[in-house]
Amino acid sequence: MIAVDAQRLLGRIRELGAVGRDGEGRLTRLAASDTDRQGRDLFVGWLRQAGLDVAIDRIGNIFGIWQSAGNAGKAPLLIGSHIDTVIDAGIYDGCYGVLAGLEVIESLKASGLSPSRPLAVAAFTNEEGVRFSPDMMGSLVLAGGVDVEAALAAVGTDGSTLGQELARIGYAGDREPGFLKPHLYVELHIEQGPVLEREGIPIGAVETLQGISWQRITLDGVANHAGTTPMSMRCDAGYAAARVVTFLHDLAGASNAPTVATVGTMRLEPNAINVIPSRAVFTVDLRDPDEQRLQAQEAALAAFLERLAAEGITVSVERLARFEPVIFDGQVVELIEAAARKRGLASRRMTSGAGHDAQMIACIAPAAMIFVPSAGGISHSPREHTEDAELVAGANILLDVVAELAELEG
Ligand code: HGY
Ligand code: MN
Ligand code: MN
Repeated sequence: MIAVDAQRLLGRIRELGAVGRDGEGRLTRLAASDTDRQGRDLFVGWLRQAGLDVAIDRIGNIFGIWQSAGNAGKAPLLIGSHIDTVIDAGIYDGCYGVLAGLEVIESLKASGLSPSRPLAVAAFTNEEGVRFSPDMMGSLVLAGGVDVEAALAAVGTDGSTLGQELARIGYAGDREPGFLKPHLYVELHIEQGPVLEREGIPIGAVETLQGISWQRITLDGVANHAGTTPMSMRCDAGYAAARVVTFLHDLAGASNAPTVATVGTMRLEPNAINVIPSRAVFTVDLRDPDEQRLQAQEAALAAFLERLAAEGITVSVERLARFEPVIFDGQVVELIEAAARKRGLASRRMTSGAGHDAQMIACIAPAAMIFVPSAGGISHSPREHTEDAELVAGANILLDVVAELAELEG
């Protein structure tokens, strides 16, 4: 049975994981930043070393393509993920799937067998959405979910535009998004949740992915003196924001539905110890595997904001991202389960709580995902960890699924 080169894969995960650390050792490679460029350069170097054709599209998606005279022109099997990170990130989220994808192509190339169609590995731009919204932007553009010009015009949290920044770091590619139309897509990723570890199962066959709703909310009250203004006379934007946070936490926790709600960013103005906040700007991340329930949560939040408006707070809401739940391709999910069985590995079907590029590509091609366990279910944190043996097992399952789909000929 062909297998991946474990040391090469693990070494690259660690090497890429060392790129983009600050003075305190925190890892941050936000989309189109200087550290993102460093990570991209390292990955492109590995693609070239592997003898792959490198193509970069206008939204900065990087593709490494292995095609031969026998299969050139056919729609490729696409594997990949992302190498941009959140702030103070772990080293596996996204990077594992991209580097395992490269590893799978290199191992198949070295086997001397030739696939019936080209194989391609992708590193999609701005999957995390921390600097530019929405997230999964590069794959969304490839899937035709947003126009490339609109995506390039996206304004970041620092006031820059994605297009300017891609040009600045040298990754404003020349290929039109969609120049590569995948025949099928498989993404390998860490689970970023507790299920596989808790159940002692090494492989997740991901069949669905939950809906995501991102909003930026601005609440305007009245600045006033913290010492002289009676409580009954305040229009306190900070207090109103805190009530929204509590409302969302109680809303998501109230039902035993799997709804999750997060206020991950908040800014108060004028941000002075002795001034009642005149403004609060914060983001709301709501998710649910059920579209109707997600819509109901969004409506409940809107109703709560109306109550605040009736009390004198001025409310404005900006939609940042909205993706409905996705069902992956059942046949690919079955292939993943069969590959796990063949290697004597237990697997289970599951829903992804996190967003992934696969949910975008699923709009234009059959797609599914493979998960491996996350220690303590932790992710988007420097404490993110997956055991080497689990990483290698997942990569071998990806290899087997791709080999099966690629109908390798000797
Ligand atoms: O937000 C997410 O779920 C993904 O990490 N972008
Ligand atoms: Mn990810
Ligand atoms: Mn992530």
